[in-house]
Amino acid sequence: MPATSNVDYSTKIPNNVGLSDDQRVLRALEQWHPGYIDWWLSRGPEGFQTSDVYLRTAVSIDPKGWAKFDYVRMPQYRWGILLAPAQEDRRVNFGTHKGEKAWQEVPGEYRAMLRRLIVVQGDTEPASVEQQRHLGKTAPSLYDMRNLFQVNVEEGRHLWAMVYLLHKYFGKDGREEAEELLARQSGNVDKPRMLGAFNEATPDWLSFFMFTFFTDRDGKMQLESLAQSGFDPLSRTCRFMLTEEAHHMFVGETGVGRVIERTCEAIKQAGIDDPTEISAVRKLGVIDLPTIQKKANLHFSLSLDLFGSEMSTNAANYYSSGLKGRFQETRIEDDHQLTIASYPVSKLVNGRVELVDEPALTAINMRLRDDYVADCAKGVERWNKVIEKAGVNFRLKLPHVAFHRQIGEFGNVKASPEGEVLSDVAWEKQKDQWLPSKADGDFIESLMHPCWERGKFASWIAVPKVGIDNKPGDFEYVKINQA
Ligand SMILES: [Fe+2]
Ligand SMILES: [Fe+2]
Repeated sequence: MPATSNVDYSTKIPNNVGLSDDQRVLRALEQWHPGYIDWWLSRGPEGFQTSDVYLRTAVSIDPKGWAKFDYVRMPQYRWGILLAPAQEDRRVNFGTHKGEKAWQEVPGEYRAMLRRLIVVQGDTEPASVEQQRHLGKTAPSLYDMRNLFQVNVEEGRHLWAMVYLLHKYFGKDGREEAEELLARQSGNVDKPRMLGAFNEATPDWLSFFMFTFFTDRDGKMQLESLAQSGFDPLSRTCRFMLTEEAHHMFVGETGVGRVIERTCEAIKQAGIDDPTEISAVRKLGVIDLPTIQKKANLHFSLSLDLFGSEMSTNAANYYSSGLKGRFQETRIEDDHQLTIASYPVSKLVNGRVELVDEPALTAINMRLRDDYVADCAKGVERWNKVIEKAGVNFRLKLPHVAFHRQIGEFGNVKASPEGEVLSDVAWEKQKDQWLPSKADGDFIESLMHPCWERGKFASWIAVPKVGIDNKPGDFEYVKINQA
């Protein structure tokens, strides 16, 4: 079915996949739609469903003009199904089928694996909306509130993207999985979301910015490797999702960056020489840098767990089958089959962390995680530039990959942020220096007061450099109507 760059708005579900010619899938999606709206109203953003929000909506897949900005009430957002343009003569680029024509239908032998990949990805999308649902109430500005809701509606669209694949290619099983995606709930004891980090609370705005920086970036890496898939509809879906995902990471990186900027400014103004004098800094109504470091430690370590075990036969099978590739697979110079290659994996050897060569095929997760860590490190360096520029003597850093892990090689050990393996007693003694304590959380919460006046920002966060869609500083990004 040809996908055009124009989106069909005549059906209830905007799309460029020819839904009006595919009555079976259109009907299935229309039947799923009311449940989705129920989910959005009951578990999406709390309290702003009748407010007009200045949102972008994907209206095309043309890279230069894919989005349109306008005021929208969130329940009326046009969640569409958009696939990036088909690439002519696309091939399977890795694994045992390398060189074959990319699949337009699900290969029977890989059906179960492919469905699993789509469901796991799909489950993360609504989960984050649920995690963030209470944040609107304490938004530090209308600008930030709008960014939160933008991320939320796009995660909603990403759910649609996965549900479309389930309905279109997986028949009855797909329909059941689509229902389950609305039934599981972040943090629910009986029916939790599938992955750990998506069941954690997002209690405050610093957590939200850290989440979009670290956890949405895991999402980016997963989408990048699914965009390599030999199953072409999945590849094209993920390629388009990545265009939206970039904004989520922008929100995270600039969000944390603005918190840091404001803190440094306050420290300088007050003439505080030592930025680790926590109580003096907190008295200024800003979040001290050591606490920001602890929040980064927490969110980074939770996000590392999303990559799964360093050594994984599942990941090897996904790769060999041509379903999920490596980050920027086609730019890597090797045989793309990994029959004899090895890859250095960090492992625990005699109580110390060391790199050990392992078969590259089973170390696929490790490699993706390394690519992720490198991407995170660049962002952290940009934060350090903000601190440096302000003339404050402090540096943020990523903790060691062994720190605070639940899954994989380091899941059963306690390690310091430097990667030193510790006894349980030593860990208990020091963990509050490395991870946010209850008191840290209480302090951050004490700053979370709404600031909804046009052009105004809460005391703990700097004004952004530019507006969304080039709007001026006092632009009314959300017209609040709390009815
Ligand atoms: Fe997403
Ligand atoms: Fe995202």
